[in-house]
Amino acid sequence: MRLPRASHAAAPPSDPRPGVLPPEGVEPDDLRRALGRFATGVTVVTSLETDRPRGVTVSAFMSVSLDPPLVLVALDQARTLGPVIRATGAYAVNILGEDDAALSDCFAGAPSEPGRDVFCGAAWRPGALGMPILERAIASLVCRLEDVVPVGDHHFLVGRVIAVSTGHGHASPLLYYRRRYLRIERATTTPLEGLADH
Ligand SMILES: Cc1cc2nc3c(=O)[nH]c(=O)nc-3n(C[C@H](O)[C@H](O)[C@H](O)COP(=O)(O)O)c2cc1C
Repeated sequence: MRLPRASHAAAPPSDPRPGVLPPEGVEPDDLRRALGRFATGVTVVTSLETDRPRGVTVSAFMSVSLDPPLVLVALDQARTLGPVIRATGAYAVNILGEDDAALSDCFAGAPSEPGRDVFCGAAWRPGALGMPILERAIASLVCRLEDVVPVGDHHFLVGRVIAVSTGHGHASPLLYYRRRYLRIERATTTPLEGLADH
């Protein structure tokens, strides 16, 4: 199927108008800047390497399907946790609360004390399938690895959710926006039209 050419595609490469993209391709910095405007939560994806808990900070997490219950995380193909998850066939997604930016930094490999070699000193317990559940997570989902889809320089890890836990109270999430952590200092919430609150 031939797609109609987008109107901006006709612009000459030297078009100086701000926000107008060249006909094909984008500069990596421009791509990062645009994607950074999409706010996400922050998770630590964990698994087990011969009884040792391992984890990595991941913002590319989304729900895919409710029935069956499927979620997806996107891991750079270079991530050291990828082969661990494939060997175990399972992982846990731990959603971080707003006070855990330091945990996020540590699991992203920033110099920290205690370091990532000792699981960032994070308190954890084995959940379903023995997957490491962070005690401080505001919610955790244990997943059996269902599919691995190579996409560009990443792998989509599709997981079937087999157990969930949610923290007590209404802790706010840690957010990631424009390559910085974002805290919600003041929030108003609005119900969606026609959708009951949970
Ligand atoms: C807030 C935040 C979000 C991140 N999200 C992802 C992600 O979605 N996927 C990914 O592959 N790496 C992501 N990273 C990068 C990894 O956490 C980081 O590169 C880590 O050091 C990789 O560990 P490794 O070198 O042992 O594989 C993120 C880092 C931060 C700080």
